[in-house]
Amino acid sequence: MSMPYIYVTRTLTDSAMADVRGLGRPVVTGGDEPPGRDDLLRHAQGAVAVVCTLTERIDAEFLDAAGPGLRIVANTAVGYDNIDVPAATERGVRVTNTPGVLDGATADLTMALILAAARRVLDGDRLIRERTPWIWGPRMMLGLDLSAGATLGIVGYGRIGRAVARRARAFDMPILATPTSTPLTGDDGQGVTFVELPELLSRSDVVTLHCPLTPATRHLIDAQALARMKSTAVLVNTARGGIVDESALVEALRSGGIASAALDVFEGEPRVDPALADLPNTVLTPHIGSAGTATRERMCGLSVANVAEVLAGRDPVTPVN
Ligand code: GLV
Repeated sequence: MSMPYIYVTRTLTDSAMADVRGLGRPVVTGGDEPPGRDDLLRHAQGAVAVVCTLTERIDAEFLDAAGPGLRIVANTAVGYDNIDVPAATERGVRVTNTPGVLDGATADLTMALILAAARRVLDGDRLIRERTPWIWGPRMMLGLDLSAGATLGIVGYGRIGRAVARRARAFDMPILATPTSTPLTGDDGQGVTFVELPELLSRSDVVTLHCPLTPATRHLIDAQALARMKSTAVLVNTARGGIVDESALVEALRSGGIASAALDVFEGEPRVDPALADLPNTVLTPHIGSAGTATRERMCGLSVANVAEVLAGRDPVTPVN
């Protein structure tokens, strides 16, 4: 295609697809599935803008395949560990993400996972589906009472961590969080005690992860960190799989080091370690933290808005670099 085009790696929502077509440039679109690496590199050639998702690795090879005409890579996700940002900056390519629009949805799913793990929702569901005979009993299927003073530990007190804290306050949970460099506004700090990670791990009944995946946070939750947690504790991850050392987690779940884990993200996504699926004390969902209809409209709309701004010679709405 001779005129520089917009490459949308995966089909976005209908309204975002209409918006991108309204930008007055040719549009090349992948399908519902992620493109293979060869297709990704081939479609990069001659693109002026790329709208991608977290399933595409955008690295120096990709940027070089795109060539000097590429102006923006718009990631349709808040996390951008799939993108080599320094490589893009070196080549003068703007990178954008979708912060702010998915905090509520991700915090909602986090609460769903916390509640499911603490109150054994999946155990109960399995019991009934397996047609196991049951009757109400004073000692039957007891779990962790969130509202009886269970402490929530939030690792990463950014936008999503704060949205989780707002919800946890309604459950009367004492809240710990790791220190944040982002200034607190409004009631952000209300009822939250800031402590370093080792103390948070040893004091929390529920530990939930909301930091980005960076070299500094890769395997932040390793065997040593898991050993600090209470044997009755629940670990929740709706951030990125790589923050947790998954084999150490399997070991901790097997040995009773911690009580349970609820995971929406995995180290080798979309592969899920079969050991996690074989354990009875896990709750597993397929990276659906932001998968609300309205949220996806906002995410896709923001990605296209970033492309529109950059192609019009202005600064993007939500720049990463
Ligand atoms: C999803 O995981 C996101 O980063 O938006």
